[in-house]
Amino acid sequence: MGKIRIAVVGFGFMGITHTMNILKNPGLELVAIVDKNPENIRKNINEQVGNFSTGGISEKEIANIKIYSSLEDCIADEQLDACVIAVHTDFHYKLTKLAFEAGINVLLEKPFCLNISEGEELIELAANKGLLLMIAHVVRFMPAYQKLKNWIDSGEFGNLNFLSMTRFSGVPAWGQWKEKQKEFGSSGGALFDLVIHDIDFIQWAVGIPESIESTILPGKLSRHDYLNARWKYNSGINVKIEGGNIFHTAFPFQAGFSAGFEKASIVYSSTNPENIIVATDTETIKIPGGDAMEGYSGELNYFVDCLKNKTKPEKCMPESALQSIKLGYKHV
Ligand SMILES: NC(=O)c1ccc[n+]([C@@H]2O[C@H](COP(=O)([O-])OP(=O)(O)OC[C@H]3O[C@@H](n4cnc5c(N)ncnc54)[C@H](O)[C@@H]3O)[C@@H](O)[C@H]2O)c1
Repeated sequence: MGKIRIAVVGFGFMGITHTMNILKNPGLELVAIVDKNPENIRKNINEQVGNFSTGGISEKEIANIKIYSSLEDCIADEQLDACVIAVHTDFHYKLTKLAFEAGINVLLEKPFCLNISEGEELIELAANKGLLLMIAHVVRFMPAYQKLKNWIDSGEFGNLNFLSMTRFSGVPAWGQWKEKQKEFGSSGGALFDLVIHDIDFIQWAVGIPESIESTILPGKLSRHDYLNARWKYNSGINVKIEGGNIFHTAFPFQAGFSAGFEKASIVYSSTNPENIIVATDTETIKIPGGDAMEGYSGELNYFVDCLKNKTKPEKCMPESALQSIKLGYKHV
């Protein structure tokens, strides 16, 4: 198989991040960048949009890449094998459907689709056309969280009894997020945009809970920009999720987990990411936390491997990403 011809659709925080990783993957040829506001391309590179740095690229690196202002025009002019769709969630359905109808495989940013039936339709369309659909749930690919998943699966520290996951950010004010503040509710709010990372990780690693209780608070984007939830399992596992973006814009992004296993308690925070701390009654062990940014290259490289090997994205199935959306609705 030759190089996979790929385009990036939406060149904001996530579009730039995916572009950077596409340029590093020797199996990919970046054919085009699509942004409905092409003037954003230069601006967003230089302004370093986002609530933390994922690395970034220079104008020079994309100087020879074709630019389109719509996916329709790009599809009409280019032979694409795949595209990464990194626009805001309210356009995930429309653009993914457009790509599928043109026979193009899709890596779609999270959250999948806020409308469940639209998500189901996309899953069915991909299956009928034999195309790959993967939702970019980056946390599943971050080294510290992968380690936690492995400890849960392997039972190395005994059974998991308690898991607390947190994720806080200032209210996003880069790129189109400023518009979303005016269109209150249209982004799905922090519940579906931010805390969905933890909802998704927990349902993937621990399973679907028997009961959910939650407290939500409104912010600038929606009625649920803060969430404090308790998930209970018949097995006895208790989970707490707390997160949101009700803080002022410059509030530093932070996420992490505390896990209580039978034989050890484990804590990790993005504010001190070098080590995961494993504490027993007698000692404290430091385990390298890895580079969280590897989550972004990891998810892209996995998508490419699935395309090359013609395999399903078992680590990140779209059905599972849709399950996370369904669980999200149980908090409101
Ligand atoms: N995985 C993560 O860590 C993470 C972080 C932030 C955002 N996200 C997700 O990524 C998506 C995008 O968020 P962002 O922060 O990158 O947004 P952004 O506002 O920085 O960028 C969005 C870009 O898409 C462009 N766009 C909008 N509609 C378009 C269309 N129809 N065709 C082509 N381009 C279009 C806009 O002009 C803008 O440049 C969202 O779904 C968000 O939830 C994921």
